[in-house]
Amino acid sequence: MKKLLASLFLLGISLTTMAQGNNYVQDYTKYQDLAMTPPMGWNSWNKFACNVDESMIKQMADAMVSTGMRDAGYTYINIDDCWHGDRDAQGFIHPDTKRFPNGMKAVADYVHSKGLKLGIYSDAGSQTCGGRPGSRGYEFQDAMTYASWGIDYLKYDWCNTEGLKAEGAYKTITAALKRAGRPIVLSICEWGNDEPWKWGQNVGHLWRTTGDIYNCFDCIKDHGSWKAFGVMQILDKQEGLRQYAGPGHWNDPDMMEVGNGALTPGEDRAHFTMWAMLAAPLIAGNDLRSMDKHTIEILTNKEVIAVNQDKLGIQGFKLSAEDGLEIWAKPLQGGDWAIAFLNRATSGKKVDFNWATQKVYDEINKLDAAFGTTTYKIKNLWDKKDKGTATTKKAFKGDIPAHDIIALRLTKTK
Ligand code: GLA
Repeated sequence: MKKLLASLFLLGISLTTMAQGNNYVQDYTKYQDLAMTPPMGWNSWNKFACNVDESMIKQMADAMVSTGMRDAGYTYINIDDCWHGDRDAQGFIHPDTKRFPNGMKAVADYVHSKGLKLGIYSDAGSQTCGGRPGSRGYEFQDAMTYASWGIDYLKYDWCNTEGLKAEGAYKTITAALKRAGRPIVLSICEWGNDEPWKWGQNVGHLWRTTGDIYNCFDCIKDHGSWKAFGVMQILDKQEGLRQYAGPGHWNDPDMMEVGNGALTPGEDRAHFTMWAMLAAPLIAGNDLRSMDKHTIEILTNKEVIAVNQDKLGIQGFKLSAEDGLEIWAKPLQGGDWAIAFLNRATSGKKVDFNWATQKVYDEINKLDAAFGTTTYKIKNLWDKKDKGTATTKKAFKGDIPAHDIIALRLTKTK
């Protein structure tokens, strides 16, 4: 009897222990509600590549405020590759002491004091694309470190990831960020290789859909083992992905090249407008300290930004493409629509958009502009002029120079 009681007692203990063990549920989901509209900010890579340091990052935060970009909605100052120093004897990562002599927390404090947020960069593999220490094997340690510095956004790249599975690797870093306890936006940067739009919704807040952008409007740059893509090439690669994006989880066609000198003002306008139409993250990639008038006007166009930041979070779609002229539509809250006429051709185009015959219908969201029964006021978002109403009696007419765009907001009146 004693023996039986003792065995029952032991069984009880082990069941309790097992039950406790089973109570642990690993949380592989991101912090929700961090990017309910597409993230807006700046990133160092497109313009500066590896040349990042504390004073430049602080100046960029200052410029984001003084140029009006912060007031227009830009929030994140993101340091890309090459900020890293070495890991210490315990494996903790430290910034390069020459580039960041006061440590990363000092940079975060400064950026926060300007009402902005700080982003940083790492890589799921053993090394970053720029050959700095990657987070493989250090995911939880790195996440804790970033949280202690006050980081708000992590871009997590995909170089040197031999043998890793993308979904698992990104779930690991998101779990690590969650455990570290600070809400940090996770930007998945694996170039669309493993279709992150299919598994990324609860893992990250945005995912790159393509390889790197190249600073041209319409070209492909062949780097040998990899290719980089011009603005139009990146745009074409977004085909078929809009159903995967929405509030909190965005397709990311890469950081912008607006203001980086290779594009004409018209091309910059077209690039910016199309990123807005795609509900893409608006991450500027130029030198904010020395922008010309055109660049500031483009990056701070509040009405185009409102199209991008619309609360419905619906990615726009192509209505038609003919002879280099594309027509795009994006449903907006309150029954409004944005319509963009993109001229990809190398000569000017005339627009003649007949509201009576054009059907503007979003098949995924079942939204219909129904011009026959709904009245819209038309506003041109670049020349800022009112263009009457969209009625089936009168077509919209306009001229678009080569590589430029007309963007309209249709505001529902009844
Ligand atoms: C990859 C990314 C880029 C940039 C570089 C940094 O190419 O796609 O956006 O972060 O690495 O090395």
